[in-house]
Amino acid sequence: MAKAASSDELRAGFEEHLEQTKGHVQRLENILQSLDESPKGKKCVGMEGLVKEGAEVMAEDLEEAVMDAGLIGAARRVEHYEIAAYGAVSELAKALGETNHASLLKQTLEEEQATDEKLTELAKEINEQASEESSQDNRDESKKTHKMPRRVA
Ligand SMILES: [Fe+2]
Repeated sequence: MAKAASSDELRAGFEEHLEQTKGHVQRLENILQSLDESPKGKKCVGMEGLVKEGAEVMAEDLEEAVMDAGLIGAARRVEHYEIAAYGAVSELAKALGETNHASLLKQTLEEEQATDEKLTELAKEINEQASEESSQDNRDESKKTHKMPRRVA
């Protein structure tokens, strides 16, 4: 997604969150190790679907800001899925009296929430640019394929 982004800020945001995600994986591995559990779990079909949707957006032939708006939409879906998952497991860990694990999972939850908020903020400007690009293309009959597709939103 970082490679497909035109906005420098969006690209930097994706790259930064990728680094953060490595820390999230490390936290999960530490938690599982302390529970004597293997980190090799079931494949997450929900996330697999969200990643496929993101790939569909990237495969579209779109103007730069329209593509960025689509990437933000796809990324926010992923973040919301992660927010739901980390929210659920951190509460479960708390209920089980695993306060250290709950605290680690909450840190990840907060980073996912912060990422979603950052994407929401970035979308304000990018959506305006996308709207301009889209209306410009609508005026140009030869570029009909660049209209903002419903898939982007
Ligand atoms: Fe995330």
